[in-house]
Amino acid sequence: MCGIVGYIGTQKTQSVLLEGLKKLEYRGYDSAGIAVFTSEGLRIAKAKGRLANLEQRLEEAPLVGTAGIGHTRWATHGKPSDVNSHPHTDESQKFSVVHNGIIENYLELKEELISQGHEFVSETDTEVISHLIAREYDGDIVKAVQKAITHMRGAFALGVLTEYEPDRLVAVRQASPLIIGIGEGENFIGSDIPAILKYTRNVYILNDGEMALLTADAVELMTIEGNFISREMIRVDWDAVTAEKGGFDHFMLKEIHEQPKAYRDTMLGRIDASGKKVVLPELKLTEDQIKNIRNIQIVACGTAYHAGLVGRTIIEQLVRIPVETDVASEYRYRSPIVNKDTLVIVVSQSGETADTLAALREAQANGAHVLAITNVVGSSIARDADDVIATLAGPEIAVASTKAYTSQLIAFNLLGLYLAQVRGTQTPEQIAHTIAAMQALPEQVESMLKQADAIKNYAEQISKHEHLFFIGRGLDYAVAQEGSLKLKEISYIHSEAYAAGELKHGTLALIEDGIPVIALATQESVLEKTVSNIKEVKARGADVLAITYEEHVASLLKSVDQAFAIPKTLPLLSPALSVVVLQLLAYYASLALGHDVDKPRNLAKSVTVE
Ligand code: F6R
Repeated sequence: MCGIVGYIGTQKTQSVLLEGLKKLEYRGYDSAGIAVFTSEGLRIAKAKGRLANLEQRLEEAPLVGTAGIGHTRWATHGKPSDVNSHPHTDESQKFSVVHNGIIENYLELKEELISQGHEFVSETDTEVISHLIAREYDGDIVKAVQKAITHMRGAFALGVLTEYEPDRLVAVRQASPLIIGIGEGENFIGSDIPAILKYTRNVYILNDGEMALLTADAVELMTIEGNFISREMIRVDWDAVTAEKGGFDHFMLKEIHEQPKAYRDTMLGRIDASGKKVVLPELKLTEDQIKNIRNIQIVACGTAYHAGLVGRTIIEQLVRIPVETDVASEYRYRSPIVNKDTLVIVVSQSGETADTLAALREAQANGAHVLAITNVVGSSIARDADDVIATLAGPEIAVASTKAYTSQLIAFNLLGLYLAQVRGTQTPEQIAHTIAAMQALPEQVESMLKQADAIKNYAEQISKHEHLFFIGRGLDYAVAQEGSLKLKEISYIHSEAYAAGELKHGTLALIEDGIPVIALATQESVLEKTVSNIKEVKARGADVLAITYEEHVASLLKSVDQAFAIPKTLPLLSPALSVVVLQLLAYYASLALGHDVDKPRNLAKSVTVE
């Protein structure tokens, strides 16, 4: 997803912009560019592909000046190309704009501007913004931006410069994230905090409908209508190294290894001193409201949706309330039945996913209480939800989500136990028993990570195949879906996740000699049935790896080719262990195939378009 960085202050503009863009690479992008005020006026450099291409251009012809804006683009309107990259300008080349989001009415605006004599060079929606601002400019860039916005419909975070006012940088936020960094004699804008963390820890987070005017020495915050506002500055206490690779070859591997810490941190302060009760002091949801919940809807995208599939079973089992899990991009369009007795849980690592945010708003508009499970506290979803359970996984940089997913599973277990306490659907002994098992998870993951080599060997075997299957029943099926997604995302090997009992309803025909099948077999209540399904694929020549508990390895090895044992836990907690095997499998398969593990093609970390 696009990333914005901006700077005003000293001659170090180019290096601040490039450094900021590097920190935004994790969001996914296909081109990059910067605009800087130089002694010759506003100058732009941009390049398709990796940031290194832009850096090479800038090495040949550096842009030296005291203010600039930069952008990483993830193509939505128009293919990735130099000309479609940001910053965009108008034909006078006096205005320059970077944009994250989508201008929904850009075609209408473009036609209008063309009829007024404006000439366009790119296929982007963003270019209309620079022309609109140029058209509205009458000696004050802030007013010109405000007027331009009145014509625009959609989502946008903007950074704007004009050559006419080289000491001013304008930033706007409307449904796409943007923050302001405060320095000494220099100020910054960024799509997120890591983009500017190297230079300052003092930030303002803009809300939707707000903008900022930055000079080297001051920042003025105002609404897009021009009313000045005051805002408390936030001091960020993240360690900059937290966002670095810390000795691992890839962020993904580092983040897989950070899971024990993420589990502990997410549980921290949420289990009382006796270790027998869950406490969620952050919840505004009252006990009366909890007792009145009639149904729960979990809404999310991608990996977070897969966490929601596990969450559904956790809550249904612990609380006996009906739960549905929906993909956010579908949710609104099926006219969901939602009312004040519905609890809607939105799940999002980034807290910025456009479809999930839209689902949140739809649910709130229908009177539901919306609880967000998110990893980014200052995110749009965290700020708009009625309640937030923060997953404390720390910044997740690899595009493929790992520790955020497993922290979401921990959050679902905490929430399920808490609801069960209030509604009395679990005895105190049952709750204490589950808590003890949860507290054992971090060490259990640590012990599994020590066996990563065995998984690496298997991953190297499967990397030679074009297709494979994941099968499982119940929660094993939910984990199979996440394992399959992870493998596809980063290794580009095609795989299908199947409810083990469903294969014979059609797709068994695809099981051929030698095709790898990964069978998750941790749900003991259905173990025999899973074994029958394993036999069905074995009979058709599949090469089966089973993931199960040590105590079942010997008997399963009569039906499968290989088995990997995970530590014993409760049925509802097994996804938090078994998925780690599948994450490592995807990681090592991608590595064996020589792919860019942390930045897989066509996948963005933060998807702020619907
Ligand atoms: C998968 C992945 C995506 C995200 C999805 C939702 O590894 O990263 O499928 O899970 O785009 O993102 P969030 O959780 O930020 O809402």
